[in-house]
Amino acid sequence: MADIELISYEPATGAILWRNLIGDAAEEVAIARSGWAGWAARPLAFRIETMRRFANVVRQRADAFVDLIARETGKPLWEARTEVDTVIAKVDISVTAYAERTAQRRLDAPMGSRMALRHKPHGVLAVLGPYNFPAHLPNGHIVPALLAGNAVVFKPSEKTPAVGAFLVDCYRAAGVPPECIRLLIGGPAQGKALAADPGIDGLLFTGSATTGLALNRAFADKPEKILALEMGGNNPIIVWDTPDLHTAAVLVVQSAFTTAGQRCTAARRLIVQDRLYDPLIETLDRMIGRIIVGEPHADPAPFMGPVIDNDVADQLTESFLALLMKGGRPIRHLERPIEGRPFLMPAMIDVTGMADRPDVELFGPILQVIKASDFDEAIAEANDTRYGLSAALISQTPALYDRFWSNARAGIVNWNRPTNGASSAAPFGGIGWSGNHRPSAFYAADYCAYPVVSNEAESARASIGIGLRDG
Ligand code: NAD
Ligand code: SIN
Repeated sequence: MADIELISYEPATGAILWRNLIGDAAEEVAIARSGWAGWAARPLAFRIETMRRFANVVRQRADAFVDLIARETGKPLWEARTEVDTVIAKVDISVTAYAERTAQRRLDAPMGSRMALRHKPHGVLAVLGPYNFPAHLPNGHIVPALLAGNAVVFKPSEKTPAVGAFLVDCYRAAGVPPECIRLLIGGPAQGKALAADPGIDGLLFTGSATTGLALNRAFADKPEKILALEMGGNNPIIVWDTPDLHTAAVLVVQSAFTTAGQRCTAARRLIVQDRLYDPLIETLDRMIGRIIVGEPHADPAPFMGPVIDNDVADQLTESFLALLMKGGRPIRHLERPIEGRPFLMPAMIDVTGMADRPDVELFGPILQVIKASDFDEAIAEANDTRYGLSAALISQTPALYDRFWSNARAGIVNWNRPTNGASSAAPFGGIGWSGNHRPSAFYAADYCAYPVVSNEAESARASIGIGLRDG
């Protein structure tokens, strides 16, 4: 990024929303380093109180926050409101998670001494956020990190910096010392500089596998730093042995097209039993035809808004064309109803039998459909990806779910529920290229502090009973 200013645009209108100077990673890290020890030394109760005040600040500012998220991401107002609610709820969940996962414990110890398990913060943690949940996802790292006593340098996505700035302002208004929550404005270059800064003790990342893999390489010779990677998915949803195709279609639509398909847990591949194929596709096609795609504040409210920008819309269009060129059979084309704006109509393409189907995450409203004739083949198809975030089965047969649960390779395995909409009160993460075995949400507490075990006695008492000569 050559310019010194970052500008954020509203995807739905193209209007400029926000502009600010690009920051300097080294400066932000140095300030955070100067502040973290004081914050860590505060009693836990103080940090919990501060986080509860943060939840109240967000409550008071909720309407403005909802409006900003909707404008900067293009997601509908109703959905932006659920994101703000999730930001508020994160505080109580994180307080519980801190107590359950990283609380102080007394353990049995020999010879009248006592053994204590306590956790310490790492120091300064960098947080890199994505654009699809510009408040909820970074907040899911930042709240547990601050609770545990770390200082945070947060770099929001270059596509949603205004939401990042709003969030940081809320922490500060609640009393988090400004030196302990730093905002770094910028793009990949600033992200790289932050990741490479020797002053950070770890990095908590949510974003694409491409960036996550680059960070994994960059941290390969830094075992002393904590690295948590939450990445994408190429998630399957199987429809098998179910009489209620309307409900199946609703679950598929919710899985594939909520947030215009811009969810890491969105269903990318629909795997259908051959006998259900025609009626399900017909039901889906009708339902998708009714989906309202529109700007966030439109009335009636849209189901989904635009994707984040024209570049992303262009890339998705190219990916759809590439699937067509490889022999994919379009069921619904990826139409772009307004020239020059990133609105996309939900698309479906049959890719059954495609020899070299790319195993990539198409982060938008494109659903690939695969017909299967037996359930083992369907599971093999579901697992035919290097990712492993989310997978769902729609079926009325419990025995099929048992087989699916046992064999599906993913961190989230659902039954008669969508692939997305993960709970913040549970661990959230995936295997393969979806993460590095450091799940977030409820388990974020685990990577925000490290365990210290102490064997302790008030006075020193010791003797050597074996192996000494008389003397
Ligand atoms: P991205 O990887 O492009 O960017 C994420 C962040 O990393 C941004 O702040 C960006 O500026 C920064 N960045 C980019 N390149 C960098 C580099 N080389 N070094 C350091 N920082 C760099 O992701 P995105 O496009 O903003 O977000 C969409 C992606 O996020 C999708 O792949 C989606 O699946 C994933 N995602 C994952 C989860 C999860 O929890 N698993 C949740 C939401 C989104
Ligand atoms: C996401 O984090 O992108 C999706 C969370 C979810 O809806 O499961």
